[in-house]
Amino acid sequence: MSSQTLASASVAEVTQRIQQRQAKVGIIGLGYVGLPLALLYSEQKVSVTGFDIDERKISTLRQGRSYIYRIEPSEIKRAREQGFDATSDYARIKEMDAIIICVPTPLNEYHEPDLSYITNTAASIAPHLRAGQLVVLESTTYPGTTEEVMIPILEKGNTTGLKAARGESADGSGFYVAFSPEREDPGNTSVARRDIPKVVGGLNPAAAELTAALYSTIFNRVVRVSSPAAAEMTKLLENIYRCVNIALVNELKMLSLRMGLDIWEVIAAASTKPFGFHPFYPGPGLGGHCIPVDPFYLSWKAKEWDFKTRFIELAGNTNMPYFVIESVAKALNQHKKAMNGSKVLILGVAYKKDIDDLRESPALTIIELLQKEGAQVSYNDPYFPVIGKGRKYDLQMQCASLDNLDQYDCVLIVTDHSDYDYRKIVKESKLVVDTRNATHGIQDAKIVRC
Ligand SMILES: NC(=O)c1ccc[n+]([C@@H]2O[C@H](COP(=O)([O-])OP(=O)(O)OC[C@H]3O[C@@H](n4cnc5c(N)ncnc54)[C@H](O)[C@@H]3O)[C@@H](O)[C@H]2O)c1
Repeated sequence: MSSQTLASASVAEVTQRIQQRQAKVGIIGLGYVGLPLALLYSEQKVSVTGFDIDERKISTLRQGRSYIYRIEPSEIKRAREQGFDATSDYARIKEMDAIIICVPTPLNEYHEPDLSYITNTAASIAPHLRAGQLVVLESTTYPGTTEEVMIPILEKGNTTGLKAARGESADGSGFYVAFSPEREDPGNTSVARRDIPKVVGGLNPAAAELTAALYSTIFNRVVRVSSPAAAEMTKLLENIYRCVNIALVNELKMLSLRMGLDIWEVIAAASTKPFGFHPFYPGPGLGGHCIPVDPFYLSWKAKEWDFKTRFIELAGNTNMPYFVIESVAKALNQHKKAMNGSKVLILGVAYKKDIDDLRESPALTIIELLQKEGAQVSYNDPYFPVIGKGRKYDLQMQCASLDNLDQYDCVLIVTDHSDYDYRKIVKESKLVVDTRNATHGIQDAKIVRC
Protein backbone atom coordinates (compact mmCIF):
# COMPACT_ATOMS: atom_id res chain seq x y z
CA MET A 1 0.00 0.00 0.00
CA SER A 2 1.44 3.41 -0.89
CA SER A 3 1.27 6.54 1.27
CA GLN A 4 -1.28 7.96 -1.18
CA THR A 5 -3.83 5.33 -0.26
CA LEU A 6 -3.36 5.88 3.47
CA ALA A 7 -6.15 8.44 3.67
CA SER A 8 -8.77 5.84 2.99
CA ALA A 9 -7.09 3.11 5.03
CA SER A 10 -8.56 2.02 8.32
CA VAL A 11 -6.56 2.40 11.51
CA ALA A 12 -6.13 -1.38 11.57
CA GLU A 13 -4.57 -1.28 8.11
CA VAL A 14 -2.23 1.58 9.00
CA THR A 15 -1.26 -0.20 12.21
CA GLN A 16 -0.40 -3.25 10.15
CA ARG A 17 1.64 -1.09 7.81
CA ILE A 18 3.63 0.23 10.78
CA GLN A 19 4.11 -3.28 12.18
CA GLN A 20 5.36 -4.53 8.82
CA ARG A 21 7.97 -1.71 8.68
CA GLN A 22 6.34 -0.19 5.60
CA ALA A 23 5.42 3.15 7.19
CA LYS A 24 7.62 6.20 6.76
CA VAL A 25 8.59 8.05 9.93
CA GLY A 26 9.67 11.70 10.08
CA ILE A 27 11.49 12.99 13.16
CA ILE A 28 11.50 16.76 13.63
CA GLY A 29 14.37 18.17 15.70
CA LEU A 30 17.58 16.13 15.42
CA GLY A 31 19.07 16.98 18.80
CA TYR A 32 19.87 14.88 21.85
CA VAL A 33 16.39 13.30 21.70
CA GLY A 34 15.49 13.25 18.00
CA LEU A 35 18.71 11.88 16.52
CA PRO A 36 18.95 8.78 18.76
CA LEU A 37 15.24 8.18 18.13
CA ALA A 38 15.81 8.31 14.36
CA LEU A 39 18.67 5.81 14.75
CA LEU A 40 16.48 3.45 16.76
CA TYR A 41 13.92 3.40 13.95
CA SER A 42 16.63 2.93 11.38
CA GLU A 43 18.07 -0.03 13.34
CA GLN A 44 14.62 -1.61 13.15
CA LYS A 45 14.65 -1.18 9.36
CA VAL A 46 11.97 1.51 9.44
CA SER A 47 12.29 4.19 6.76
CA VAL A 48 13.14 7.37 8.68
CA THR A 49 13.74 10.97 7.63
CA GLY A 50 15.03 13.63 10.02
CA PHE A 51 13.96 17.26 9.76
CA ASP A 52 15.89 20.18 11.28
CA ILE A 53 16.31 23.89 10.65
CA ASP A 54 20.02 23.72 11.50
CA GLU A 55 21.73 23.28 8.12
CA ARG A 56 25.03 22.36 9.78
CA LYS A 57 23.41 19.35 11.40
CA ILE A 58 21.81 18.31 8.11
CA SER A 59 25.09 18.47 6.22
CA THR A 60 27.02 16.71 9.03
CA LEU A 61 24.54 13.83 8.97
CA ARG A 62 24.51 13.66 5.20
CA GLN A 63 28.29 13.27 5.30
CA GLY A 64 27.84 10.32 7.68
CA ARG A 65 29.29 12.24 10.62
CA SER A 66 27.97 12.89 14.12
CA TYR A 67 27.69 16.02 16.31
CA ILE A 68 26.72 14.19 19.50
CA TYR A 69 29.64 12.76 21.44
CA ARG A 70 28.05 9.45 22.41
CA ILE A 71 26.81 8.76 18.85
CA GLU A 72 29.55 7.25 16.72
CA PRO A 73 29.85 8.30 13.07
CA SER A 74 29.61 4.59 12.22
CA GLU A 75 26.02 4.60 13.56
CA ILE A 76 25.12 7.48 11.26
CA LYS A 77 26.80 5.76 8.30
CA ARG A 78 24.92 2.54 9.01
CA ALA A 79 21.63 4.46 9.19
CA ARG A 80 22.45 6.27 5.94
CA GLU A 81 22.98 2.87 4.28
CA GLN A 82 19.53 1.91 5.57
CA GLY A 83 18.07 4.98 3.85
CA PHE A 84 18.10 7.49 6.72
CA ASP A 85 18.09 11.02 5.33
CA ALA A 86 18.15 14.46 6.95
CA THR A 87 16.54 17.54 5.48
CA SER A 88 15.31 21.04 6.21
CA ASP A 89 12.66 20.77 3.52
CA TYR A 90 9.27 20.66 5.21
CA ALA A 91 7.56 19.86 1.89
CA ARG A 92 8.80 16.30 2.46
CA ILE A 93 6.43 16.02 5.44
CA LYS A 94 3.70 14.87 3.08
CA GLU A 95 5.72 11.70 2.32
CA MET A 96 5.59 10.69 5.99
CA ASP A 97 3.03 8.42 7.62
CA ALA A 98 4.02 9.42 11.15
CA ILE A 99 5.73 12.58 12.38
CA ILE A 100 7.40 12.81 15.79
CA ILE A 101 8.29 16.28 17.11
CA CYS A 102 11.36 16.60 19.37
CA VAL A 103 12.09 20.35 19.42
CA PRO A 104 13.32 22.36 22.44
CA THR A 105 11.03 23.71 25.17
CA PRO A 106 13.14 26.19 27.18
CA LEU A 107 12.08 28.99 29.51
CA ASN A 108 12.16 32.59 28.32
CA GLU A 109 13.93 35.44 30.12
CA TYR A 110 10.92 35.84 32.45
CA HIS A 111 11.14 32.15 33.45
CA GLU A 112 7.99 31.36 31.48
CA PRO A 113 7.46 28.54 28.93
CA ASP A 114 8.88 29.36 25.50
CA LEU A 115 6.70 27.34 23.13
CA SER A 116 7.98 29.11 20.01
CA TYR A 117 9.84 26.00 18.77
CA ILE A 118 6.64 23.95 18.97
CA THR A 119 4.47 26.63 17.39
CA ASN A 120 7.02 27.25 14.59
CA THR A 121 7.24 23.52 13.91
CA ALA A 122 3.45 23.13 13.84
CA ALA A 123 3.18 26.09 11.46
CA SER A 124 5.79 24.51 9.16
CA ILE A 125 4.08 21.09 9.16
CA ALA A 126 0.52 22.38 8.68
CA PRO A 127 0.61 23.24 4.95
CA HIS A 128 1.93 19.76 4.13
CA LEU A 129 -0.34 17.79 6.40
CA ARG A 130 -2.52 15.15 4.79
CA ALA A 131 -5.34 12.88 5.89
CA GLY A 132 -4.37 9.74 7.77
CA GLN A 133 -1.06 11.07 9.07
CA LEU A 134 -0.10 10.72 12.72
CA VAL A 135 1.55 13.66 14.54
CA VAL A 136 3.15 12.93 17.92
CA LEU A 137 4.62 15.61 20.18
CA GLU A 138 7.50 14.44 22.41
CA SER A 139 8.85 17.77 23.69
CA THR A 140 8.38 18.18 27.43
CA THR A 141 5.63 20.71 28.16
CA TYR A 142 2.67 21.60 30.39
CA PRO A 143 -0.63 19.69 30.24
CA GLY A 144 -2.79 21.14 27.49
CA THR A 145 -0.07 22.08 24.99
CA THR A 146 -0.94 19.40 22.44
CA GLU A 147 -4.65 20.21 22.40
CA GLU A 148 -4.63 23.93 23.14
CA VAL A 149 -1.53 25.04 21.23
CA MET A 150 -0.38 22.51 18.63
CA ILE A 151 -3.65 21.17 17.20
CA PRO A 152 -5.21 24.61 16.49
CA ILE A 153 -2.10 25.60 14.48
CA LEU A 154 -2.19 22.34 12.51
CA GLU A 155 -5.92 22.72 11.83
CA LYS A 156 -5.76 26.39 10.82
CA GLY A 157 -2.60 26.14 8.76
CA ASN A 158 -3.48 23.27 6.46
CA THR A 159 -4.94 24.14 3.11
CA THR A 160 -7.59 21.42 2.85
CA GLY A 161 -9.54 22.02 6.05
CA LEU A 162 -8.27 18.82 7.69
CA LYS A 163 -9.22 18.32 11.34
CA ALA A 164 -7.64 16.24 14.05
CA ALA A 165 -9.48 12.93 14.51
CA ARG A 166 -11.61 13.13 17.67
CA GLY A 167 -14.08 10.78 19.35
CA GLU A 168 -14.53 7.51 17.51
CA SER A 169 -13.19 8.84 14.20
CA ALA A 170 -10.88 6.23 12.70
CA ASP A 171 -11.64 6.35 8.99
CA GLY A 172 -8.55 8.32 8.03
CA SER A 173 -10.46 11.44 7.00
CA GLY A 174 -8.54 13.59 9.49
CA PHE A 175 -5.07 13.46 11.02
CA TYR A 176 -4.25 11.68 14.26
CA VAL A 177 -2.56 13.33 17.24
CA ALA A 178 -0.85 12.07 20.39
CA PHE A 179 1.63 13.16 23.04
CA SER A 180 4.38 10.82 24.19
CA PRO A 181 7.08 12.14 26.53
CA GLU A 182 10.76 11.43 26.02
CA ARG A 183 12.25 9.69 29.07
CA GLU A 184 15.85 9.29 28.02
CA ASP A 185 18.53 9.62 30.70
CA PRO A 186 21.72 10.63 28.84
CA GLY A 187 24.83 8.91 30.11
CA ASN A 188 22.83 6.21 31.90
CA THR A 189 24.02 2.91 30.45
CA SER A 190 22.21 0.73 32.97
CA VAL A 191 18.91 0.70 31.01
CA ALA A 192 18.72 0.17 27.26
CA ARG A 193 16.58 2.79 25.61
CA ARG A 194 14.16 0.20 24.26
CA ASP A 195 13.59 -1.06 27.83
CA ILE A 196 12.30 2.33 29.00
CA PRO A 197 8.48 2.04 28.82
CA LYS A 198 6.94 4.60 26.47
CA VAL A 199 3.93 6.53 27.78
CA VAL A 200 1.37 7.44 25.12
CA GLY A 201 -1.72 9.66 25.29
CA GLY A 202 -3.82 9.77 22.10
CA LEU A 203 -6.36 12.45 21.27
CA ASN A 204 -8.78 9.63 20.48
CA PRO A 205 -8.64 5.81 20.62
CA ALA A 206 -7.50 5.55 16.99
CA ALA A 207 -4.59 7.92 17.60
CA ALA A 208 -3.64 5.95 20.71
CA GLU A 209 -3.74 2.72 18.71
CA LEU A 210 -1.52 4.08 15.94
CA THR A 211 0.94 5.68 18.35
CA ALA A 212 1.22 2.48 20.38
CA ALA A 213 1.98 0.58 17.17
CA LEU A 214 4.52 3.22 16.12
CA TYR A 215 6.49 2.98 19.37
CA SER A 216 6.12 -0.78 19.73
CA THR A 217 8.52 -1.16 16.82
CA ILE A 218 11.34 0.32 18.93
CA PHE A 219 10.22 0.05 22.58
CA ASN A 220 9.48 -3.15 24.49
CA ARG A 221 6.55 -1.69 26.43
CA VAL A 222 4.00 1.01 25.66
CA VAL A 223 1.90 2.43 28.52
CA ARG A 224 -1.31 4.08 27.40
CA VAL A 225 -2.91 6.94 29.32
CA SER A 226 -6.30 8.47 28.63
CA SER A 227 -5.30 11.74 26.94
CA PRO A 228 -2.38 13.84 25.65
CA ALA A 229 -2.67 16.00 28.78
CA ALA A 230 -2.29 12.97 31.08
CA ALA A 231 0.88 12.02 29.17
CA GLU A 232 2.17 15.61 29.40
CA MET A 233 1.53 15.65 33.15
CA THR A 234 3.21 12.23 33.60
CA LYS A 235 6.51 13.61 32.33
CA LEU A 236 6.26 16.66 34.58
CA LEU A 237 5.46 14.53 37.63
CA GLU A 238 8.61 12.49 36.96
CA ASN A 239 10.83 15.55 36.65
CA ILE A 240 9.28 17.48 39.54
CA TYR A 241 9.74 14.40 41.73
CA ARG A 242 13.45 14.47 40.88
CA CYS A 243 13.75 18.24 41.30
CA VAL A 244 12.10 18.29 44.74
CA ASN A 245 14.10 15.32 46.00
CA ILE A 246 17.41 16.72 44.77
CA ALA A 247 16.63 20.02 46.51
CA LEU A 248 15.77 18.12 49.69
CA VAL A 249 18.98 16.10 49.69
CA ASN A 250 21.03 19.24 48.97
CA GLU A 251 19.48 20.89 52.02
CA LEU A 252 20.20 17.83 54.15
CA LYS A 253 23.78 17.83 52.86
CA MET A 254 24.30 21.42 54.04
CA LEU A 255 22.91 20.51 57.47
CA SER A 256 25.00 17.32 57.63
CA LEU A 257 28.17 19.28 56.88
CA ARG A 258 27.41 21.56 59.82
CA MET A 259 26.70 18.56 62.04
CA GLY A 260 29.90 16.81 60.98
CA LEU A 261 27.98 14.00 59.26
CA ASP A 262 28.75 12.47 55.86
CA ILE A 263 25.50 12.67 53.86
CA TRP A 264 26.85 10.15 51.32
CA GLU A 265 27.31 7.56 54.04
CA VAL A 266 23.78 8.29 55.26
CA ILE A 267 22.27 7.97 51.75
CA ALA A 268 24.09 4.67 51.19
CA ALA A 269 22.73 3.33 54.48
CA ALA A 270 19.16 4.56 53.78
CA SER A 271 19.34 2.95 50.32
CA THR A 272 19.54 -0.48 51.89
CA LYS A 273 15.86 -0.16 52.82
CA PRO A 274 14.08 -2.44 50.34
CA PHE A 275 10.96 -0.25 50.05
CA GLY A 276 9.82 3.38 50.38
CA PHE A 277 13.20 5.03 49.76
CA HIS A 278 14.80 6.04 46.49
CA PRO A 279 18.25 7.65 46.67
CA PHE A 280 18.94 11.11 45.24
CA TYR A 281 22.39 12.64 45.44
CA PRO A 282 23.55 16.14 46.35
CA GLY A 283 25.61 18.24 43.96
CA PRO A 284 26.62 21.77 43.00
CA GLY A 285 23.12 22.75 41.81
CA LEU A 286 20.38 21.69 39.43
CA GLY A 287 21.48 21.29 35.83
CA GLY A 288 20.45 20.06 32.43
CA HIS A 289 17.73 20.84 30.00
CA CYS A 290 15.00 19.19 32.08
CA ILE A 291 15.18 19.42 35.87
CA PRO A 292 15.76 23.20 36.26
CA VAL A 293 13.29 23.98 33.44
CA ASP A 294 10.34 21.59 33.21
CA PRO A 295 8.83 22.12 36.69
CA PHE A 296 8.31 25.79 35.83
CA TYR A 297 6.16 24.80 32.86
CA LEU A 298 3.69 23.42 35.38
CA SER A 299 3.94 26.26 37.89
CA TRP A 300 3.22 28.69 35.03
CA LYS A 301 0.19 26.70 33.88
CA ALA A 302 -1.02 26.29 37.48
CA LYS A 303 -1.56 30.07 37.70
CA GLU A 304 -4.36 29.73 35.15
CA TRP A 305 -6.07 27.54 37.76
CA ASP A 306 -5.34 30.02 40.56
CA PHE A 307 -2.99 27.47 42.11
CA LYS A 308 0.44 28.03 43.63
CA THR A 309 2.90 25.14 43.23
CA ARG A 310 4.90 25.82 46.41
CA PHE A 311 7.09 22.72 46.30
CA ILE A 312 8.25 23.59 42.78
CA GLU A 313 9.07 27.18 43.68
CA LEU A 314 10.98 26.08 46.77
CA ALA A 315 12.92 23.31 45.04
CA GLY A 316 13.63 25.29 41.88
CA ASN A 317 15.12 28.32 43.56
CA THR A 318 18.36 26.55 44.29
CA ASN A 319 21.21 28.49 45.80
CA MET A 320 23.68 25.61 45.59
CA PRO A 321 26.20 27.41 43.31
CA TYR A 322 26.41 30.17 45.96
CA PHE A 323 27.02 27.54 48.63
CA VAL A 324 29.85 26.11 46.47
CA ILE A 325 31.45 29.57 46.17
CA GLU A 326 31.28 30.06 49.95
CA SER A 327 32.86 26.64 50.45
CA VAL A 328 35.71 27.48 48.05
CA ALA A 329 36.28 30.83 49.81
CA LYS A 330 36.41 29.10 53.20
CA ALA A 331 38.77 26.39 51.92
CA LEU A 332 41.10 29.01 50.40
CA ASN A 333 40.94 30.97 53.65
CA GLN A 334 42.15 27.88 55.51
CA HIS A 335 45.15 27.97 53.15
CA LYS A 336 45.65 31.68 53.96
CA LYS A 337 44.52 32.65 50.48
CA ALA A 338 41.94 35.21 49.40
CA MET A 339 39.48 34.30 46.65
CA ASN A 340 40.40 37.54 44.88
CA GLY A 341 43.42 36.76 42.71
CA SER A 342 43.43 33.03 43.42
CA LYS A 343 43.77 30.50 40.60
CA VAL A 344 40.89 28.02 40.46
CA LEU A 345 40.56 25.06 38.10
CA ILE A 346 37.03 23.71 37.58
CA LEU A 347 36.99 19.99 36.83
CA GLY A 348 33.99 19.03 34.71
CA VAL A 349 31.59 21.56 33.26
CA ALA A 350 28.93 19.26 31.72
CA TYR A 351 25.72 19.30 33.74
CA LYS A 352 26.31 15.69 34.75
CA LYS A 353 28.97 13.05 34.44
CA ASP A 354 30.05 11.43 31.18
CA ILE A 355 27.93 13.54 28.84
CA ASP A 356 28.63 16.38 26.41
CA ASP A 357 25.72 18.60 27.42
CA LEU A 358 26.34 22.01 28.96
CA ARG A 359 22.77 23.25 29.10
CA GLU A 360 21.84 24.93 32.40
CA SER A 361 25.00 23.47 33.93
CA PRO A 362 25.69 24.83 37.44
CA ALA A 363 29.38 24.96 36.40
CA LEU A 364 28.59 28.00 34.24
CA THR A 365 27.07 29.88 37.16
CA ILE A 366 29.96 28.83 39.40
CA ILE A 367 32.55 30.11 36.88
CA GLU A 368 30.73 33.42 36.63
CA LEU A 369 30.42 33.79 40.42
CA LEU A 370 34.11 32.94 40.94
CA GLN A 371 35.12 35.48 38.30
CA LYS A 372 32.98 38.12 39.99
CA GLU A 373 34.89 37.45 43.21
CA GLY A 374 38.15 38.10 41.35
CA ALA A 375 39.32 34.49 40.94
CA GLN A 376 41.27 33.51 37.81
CA VAL A 377 39.21 30.61 36.57
CA SER A 378 40.26 27.80 34.22
CA TYR A 379 38.41 24.60 33.44
CA ASN A 380 39.06 21.08 32.23
CA ASP A 381 36.43 18.83 30.68
CA PRO A 382 37.22 16.07 28.16
CA TYR A 383 33.85 16.69 26.49
CA PHE A 384 34.38 20.42 25.90
CA PRO A 385 37.57 21.67 24.20
CA VAL A 386 36.07 25.19 24.37
CA ILE A 387 33.16 26.93 26.07
CA GLY A 388 31.80 29.59 23.77
CA LYS A 389 28.55 31.48 23.79
CA GLY A 390 25.47 29.88 25.33
CA ARG A 391 21.96 31.12 25.99
CA LYS A 392 23.00 32.91 29.20
CA TYR A 393 26.79 32.99 29.21
CA ASP A 394 29.51 34.04 26.86
CA LEU A 395 32.60 32.69 28.62
CA GLN A 396 34.97 32.08 25.65
CA MET A 397 37.28 29.72 27.55
CA GLN A 398 39.56 26.92 26.40
CA CYS A 399 40.00 23.58 28.12
CA ALA A 400 43.15 23.63 30.29
CA SER A 401 45.41 20.60 30.53
CA LEU A 402 45.70 18.54 33.70
CA ASP A 403 49.48 19.02 33.79
CA ASN A 404 50.95 21.13 36.58
CA LEU A 405 47.89 20.99 38.81
CA ASP A 406 49.92 22.54 41.60
CA GLN A 407 49.81 25.88 39.77
CA TYR A 408 46.20 26.22 40.99
CA ASP A 409 45.28 27.38 44.48
CA CYS A 410 42.16 25.26 44.28
CA VAL A 411 40.87 22.44 42.07
CA LEU A 412 37.08 22.42 42.24
CA ILE A 413 35.31 19.21 41.19
CA VAL A 414 31.96 20.24 39.74
CA THR A 415 31.25 17.25 37.47
CA ASP A 416 32.55 13.80 38.35
CA HIS A 417 33.39 12.38 34.91
CA SER A 418 34.46 8.73 35.15
CA ASP A 419 37.64 9.29 33.10
CA TYR A 420 39.34 11.41 35.75
CA ASP A 421 41.99 9.78 37.92
CA TYR A 422 40.93 11.33 41.21
CA ARG A 423 43.77 9.85 43.25
CA LYS A 424 46.32 11.42 40.89
CA ILE A 425 44.41 14.71 40.88
CA VAL A 426 44.40 14.89 44.68
CA LYS A 427 48.06 13.93 44.84
CA GLU A 428 49.12 16.68 42.43
CA SER A 429 46.85 19.49 43.69
CA LYS A 430 47.32 21.89 46.58
CA LEU A 431 43.65 21.93 47.53
CA VAL A 432 40.64 20.00 46.17
CA VAL A 433 37.05 21.08 46.80
CA ASP A 434 34.72 18.21 45.89
CA THR A 435 31.01 18.87 45.25
CA ARG A 436 30.22 15.32 44.04
CA ASN A 437 31.93 12.92 46.43
CA ALA A 438 34.19 11.99 43.50
CA THR A 439 37.10 11.58 45.93
CA HIS A 440 35.17 9.03 47.98
CA GLY A 441 37.61 6.59 49.60
CA ILE A 442 40.61 8.93 49.29
CA GLN A 443 41.84 10.24 52.64
CA ASP A 444 43.85 13.45 52.34
CA ALA A 445 43.74 16.68 54.32
CA LYS A 446 43.79 18.60 51.03
CA ILE A 447 40.23 17.46 50.24
CA VAL A 448 37.28 19.59 51.30
CA ARG A 449 33.92 17.97 50.58
CA CYS A 450 31.00 20.34 50.13
N1 LIG B 1 17.99 15.93 26.19
C1 LIG B 1 17.35 15.12 27.00
O1 LIG B 1 17.96 14.30 27.65
C2 LIG B 1 15.84 15.15 27.12
C3 LIG B 1 15.23 14.15 27.92
C4 LIG B 1 13.85 14.13 28.02
C5 LIG B 1 13.10 15.11 27.35
N2 LIG B 1 13.72 16.07 26.60
C6 LIG B 1 12.88 17.03 25.89
O2 LIG B 1 12.95 16.77 24.50
C7 LIG B 1 12.85 17.99 23.75
C8 LIG B 1 14.05 18.14 22.83
O3 LIG B 1 15.22 18.21 23.61
P1 LIG B 1 16.67 18.00 23.01
O4 LIG B 1 17.55 17.83 24.19
O5 LIG B 1 16.67 16.97 21.96
O6 LIG B 1 16.90 19.44 22.33
P2 LIG B 1 18.09 19.85 21.31
O7 LIG B 1 18.25 21.31 21.45
O8 LIG B 1 19.25 18.95 21.52
O9 LIG B 1 17.49 19.51 19.89
C9 LIG B 1 16.42 20.16 19.33
C10 LIG B 1 16.59 20.24 17.82
O10 LIG B 1 15.44 20.86 17.28
C11 LIG B 1 15.83 21.65 16.20
N3 LIG B 1 14.78 22.61 15.88
C12 LIG B 1 14.42 23.73 16.55
N4 LIG B 1 13.39 24.32 15.95
C13 LIG B 1 13.06 23.55 14.88
C14 LIG B 1 12.08 23.63 13.88
N5 LIG B 1 11.19 24.64 13.83
N6 LIG B 1 12.05 22.68 12.93
C15 LIG B 1 12.95 21.65 12.95
N7 LIG B 1 13.89 21.51 13.87
C16 LIG B 1 13.94 22.45 14.84
C17 LIG B 1 17.13 22.28 16.68
O11 LIG B 1 17.90 22.77 15.60
C18 LIG B 1 17.78 21.08 17.38
O12 LIG B 1 18.58 20.33 16.50
C19 LIG B 1 12.73 19.10 24.79
O13 LIG B 1 11.39 19.39 25.04
C20 LIG B 1 13.34 18.46 26.04
O14 LIG B 1 12.83 19.04 27.22
C21 LIG B 1 15.09 16.09 26.47
